[in-house]
Amino acid sequence: QTSQAEVVVFSVPSYACQRRSTLENHNAVLTDALALLAENAELSEEEGRGVAFRRAAAVLKALPRPVTSMTELRGLPCLGDHSLRVIKDILENGASSEAESTKQSERYKALKVLTGIFGVGAKTADRWIREGILGLQQLQESGQTLNRAQQAGLEHYDDLNQPVTKADADVISEIVERAVVSVLPGAQMTLIGGFRRGKLSGHDVDFLITHPEEGREVGLMPKVVSWLESQGFLLYQKTTRNSYLESKDGPGRPSSNMDRFERCFSIFKLTEKERRRTKHPETATENGLRTVSTPEPDPHSRVQISERSRCEDEELEVDQTKQAGHKLWRAVRVDLVVSPISQFAFALLGWTGSKLFERELRRWAGHERNMSLSSHALYDNKQRIYLRATSEEEIFAHLGLEFIPPSERNT
Ligand code: CTP
Ligand code: MN
Ligand code: MN
Ligand code: MN
Repeated sequence: QTSQAEVVVFSVPSYACQRRSTLENHNAVLTDALALLAENAELSEEEGRGVAFRRAAAVLKALPRPVTSMTELRGLPCLGDHSLRVIKDILENGASSEAESTKQSERYKALKVLTGIFGVGAKTADRWIREGILGLQQLQESGQTLNRAQQAGLEHYDDLNQPVTKADADVISEIVERAVVSVLPGAQMTLIGGFRRGKLSGHDVDFLITHPEEGREVGLMPKVVSWLESQGFLLYQKTTRNSYLESKDGPGRPSSNMDRFERCFSIFKLTEKERRRTKHPETATENGLRTVSTPEPDPHSRVQISERSRCEDEELEVDQTKQAGHKLWRAVRVDLVVSPISQFAFALLGWTGSKLFERELRRWAGHERNMSLSSHALYDNKQRIYLRATSEEEIFAHLGLEFIPPSERNT
């Protein structure tokens, strides 16, 4: 029983998809430690433990102010014994000894370095570590056979481990838009992933492409890729074709969380020239959709004059960069996904993230509504019907959830 002096300080619903999680975080010290332990668990293929830490961190991130004592945490969901121990350690000693020793461990450091190579996952990294490979130098000397993705990952290691800025994401958007308009006028392209959630940096840039007429999107990806390739924008690409229709999954029983859209994992070559070319990225419309169109020349000469002088300044900068011996481009990871318009809302919701938000949506659907949600469809297991939707709002409504906009899905 609680005494009168005690008040219930925080109240947080248990599913992350019931909460509004902005980028604001009043408990970064606590969530950083939990995120590190989550990452270590994921890299060690202990998914369950990873999710538990992620859920705990997400609850702390949702609090309106910093936690100062353990009593404030009473009644909060998703805080298991292990997470509570970590939090207690930090509140009492200023740091988590477990997080600190993990961070310093040879195994964690090696896993970070090796999985920092595009194309290298936890399994491969673990195998290499067991063979005594702890770093890039050792990997190169080991004579391990690397696949094409890993070779590209190693070659562009530094660039790909450098965060992508929103400004560079906008430049890439312009390039992808030019590609799409060239191969299929009327197609629509939407920025998805972390940048759609309003993040200012990310590890890659994600795009969803569709066409308002069902079926017109078929065959689009190879054309977009060829265009990008012909313009010299691609350092690497791997396209996987749509396998949704031929998959043996039951209606609500996808065999994995991987979706089956036609998609392309790529590495873009982003040049200074392209950065200077993009001046005013169009602002996205409310639902994030942009109809692809050829950009019109700016009718305001004043604007053009000021832009010319800006270009001249930048040319000078480029000259100076050249003299300093820096390279004039960077490699950027880009993910492209093509969806038919009938599945667009599901693809948009499924690809906007965050990863935990998506996981929680699917858990809510299954456990609380007896429904199966994927990036393709929503299936009602009781009524045995697919629930149609043409917007994210409708999907939340089908699920009996309050609509959470992308900027508040930063769990
Ligand atoms: N996703 C997916 N299937 C994959 C990879 C990713 O459905 N094989 C989804 C994730 O669930 C997420 C979105 O694609 O919703 C974006 O993934 P990712 O680019 O990895 O993460 P971001 O949230 O964009 O974060 P970052 O800024 O680090 O890129
Ligand atoms: Mn606040
Ligand atoms: Mn991303
Ligand atoms: Mn991605």
